[in-house]
Amino acid sequence: MNIRVHMVLGLTCILAGCLFVSCAPSPIIESIPTDTPDEMDVNLRQLLAEADVEPLAELPAPDENMYALGQALFFDKELSGNRDISCATCHHPTLATADALSLSIGVGGVGLGTERVIDPTREFVPRNAPDIFNRGDPGWLTMFWDSRVSGTLETRFNTPAGVRLPAEIDSLLAAQAMFPVTSPDEMRGERGDVDVFGEHNELAPILNHEFEAIWDALMQRLLAIPEYQELFAAAYPDVPEDELNFAHAANAIAVFEATSWHFTDSPWDRYLLGDDSALTLEAKRGAILFYGEAGCGECHSGPLLTDQQHYNMAVPQIGPGKGLGAPLDLGRAEESDMDEDRFAFRTPPLRNVVLTGPWMHNGTYTTLEAAVLHQLDPLKDMYAYDPTVLDPLVDIEYITHDYVVSTMLETIDPVARETIELSQAEIGDLLAFLEALTSPSALDMSDDIPESVPSGLPVND
Ligand code: HEC
Ligand code: HEC
Repeated sequence: MNIRVHMVLGLTCILAGCLFVSCAPSPIIESIPTDTPDEMDVNLRQLLAEADVEPLAELPAPDENMYALGQALFFDKELSGNRDISCATCHHPTLATADALSLSIGVGGVGLGTERVIDPTREFVPRNAPDIFNRGDPGWLTMFWDSRVSGTLETRFNTPAGVRLPAEIDSLLAAQAMFPVTSPDEMRGERGDVDVFGEHNELAPILNHEFEAIWDALMQRLLAIPEYQELFAAAYPDVPEDELNFAHAANAIAVFEATSWHFTDSPWDRYLLGDDSALTLEAKRGAILFYGEAGCGECHSGPLLTDQQHYNMAVPQIGPGKGLGAPLDLGRAEESDMDEDRFAFRTPPLRNVVLTGPWMHNGTYTTLEAAVLHQLDPLKDMYAYDPTVLDPLVDIEYITHDYVVSTMLETIDPVARETIELSQAEIGDLLAFLEALTSPSALDMSDDIPESVPSGLPVND
C-alpha cells in the first residue's frame, strides 16, 4: 500500500518536474504519510538500536566426531528406560524441533507428533516441549520454562543435580541434556516397567535424586554397544572408556543440537544485517509495533527475542501440574521458592515461532493468532479461554476453579492486566513480523535424521 502511494507520488513529481521545472511542494506531496518505507526503516532501526537488538553470530564449526556421537544419541531410544522414546520423539526435525502437541507425551506413548497416542495409565508431561532453535547461542543463560538449568561455563551451572553435576559438562545446553533421561515421565519410566522387549527396566527403580546412579546405568547400557564404544572413542580420543560418564554423552548431544539448528537466515536476520529489502512493509510495520507501542520487545528482547526473565501472563492452567504445586503448575516458583514467582514462566524466544505451535508453556493456544491475541489482553483472554481446542484427554479441571483464578491474580504481571488496542490490520502486521522470523532452513530439516542408530532401535516413529 505504502509503496504504491510512494510510487504514484514519485511519478507525479517526475511529471511535475518536466512540466514546471521545479517540483515545489504541493498539497499532494505534503500528504505523504510519515511512514514511507524509508522513514519506516529509520524508525525501526532506531527502535532496534535502543533495544540492543543485534544480529546473531555464527557458531564455530563443530568437531565432526562429537556431532556424529550427538546425533546418534539424540535419536536413540536406548537412552530411555523402556527403550521406547528418544529426545527426537519430542524434538523432531519434521516437527520444528518440538512435537506439535500442547503437552508432551512421554514414556509409554506411541507415534509421533499429533498422531502420538498416550498410554491411558500414564499422564501427560506437564509442559509444552519448546523448540531447540538457536539454543547453542552463547546468549542463552537459562534452560526450561522455569530456568531450572542456568548459568555459563565460566560461572558454572545451576541445575537440579547441584554438586552432583559432572565437572565435564561444557555448555549450558549440555547441562540441560543431563535431565530428560532422569525424568520418570519423559524418558526413564516408572518402577515395575518393562522395556519394549519385555525386559526389566533397570533405570526406573533408581530414586529420583540419585542422579549419578541413573547416569551410570545409562552409560553401562551405551558402552555395551560396540558402535557406541567406537563413537565415544572417536569423540573423546583422550578419555579412557572407564572414565567416560554421561556428561560426555550430553556434551555431544549439545554439539549436535547447536550445530543442526543454529539458523541465521530468516528475513529478520537479513534485515538486522542491513538489508532493508528483506522485510515486507507489513512485517516492518509489525516490527515497529512490536518494539514500540505494543511493548512486546520489552520482554521478547535482544537477539534471541527473550529477556530470559519470568512473568505470570495469565495463561490458563491445564494438565497434570508439576512438582509440589501439582495439580497446578507454579512455574518459576517451584524453583525459586518465592511466592511472587507463582505461575511465572520464562519469556519464550520467538525465532521460527510460526512453526512451533501449540504455544505457551502448556500449549494452551493452538493458533499463533490466538496466542498473540492473548498477549494483547491476557487477563480478559484468560477468562474467555476456550478449552475445546485442546486434546480432550488433557485435564482442564482447574481452568475456571475460583481458587486457582484468584491465586493466579495475586502474581499476575502488571503488563498482563493491560489491554493493548490494535486494529485488525495492525494484528495482521504483528503476525507478518512473526512470520518474518522464520528461517528457510527450518522448513525442511529432514537431513538431520540418521538412517539408523547404534542400538538398532527404530529411528522414526
Ligand atoms: C517426552 C518428551 C520429551 C523428551 C523425550 C525430551 N524432551 Fe526436551 N523438553 C520437553 C519438554 C516438555 C520441555 C520443557 C520442560 C520444562 O520446561 O519444564 C523440554 C525442554 C527441553 C529443552 C530446553 C529448551 C528451552 O528453551 O529451555 C531442551 C534443550 C531439550 N528439551 C532437549 C532435550 C534433549 C537433549 C532430550 C533427550 C536427552 C530431550 N529434550 C528429551 C519434552 C521432551
Ligand atoms: C511482560 C513480558 C511480556 C510481554 C510484554 C509480551 N510477552 Fe509474549 N510472552 C511472555 C511470556 C512470559 C510468555 C510465556 C507465558 C506462558 O507460557 O505462561 C510469552 C509467550 C508469547 C508467545 C508464545 C510463544 C511460544 O513459543 O509459546 C507469543 C507468540 C508471544 N508471547 C508474543 C508476544 C507479543 C506479540 C507481544 C506484544 C503484543 C508479547 N508477546 C508481549 C512475556 C511477554
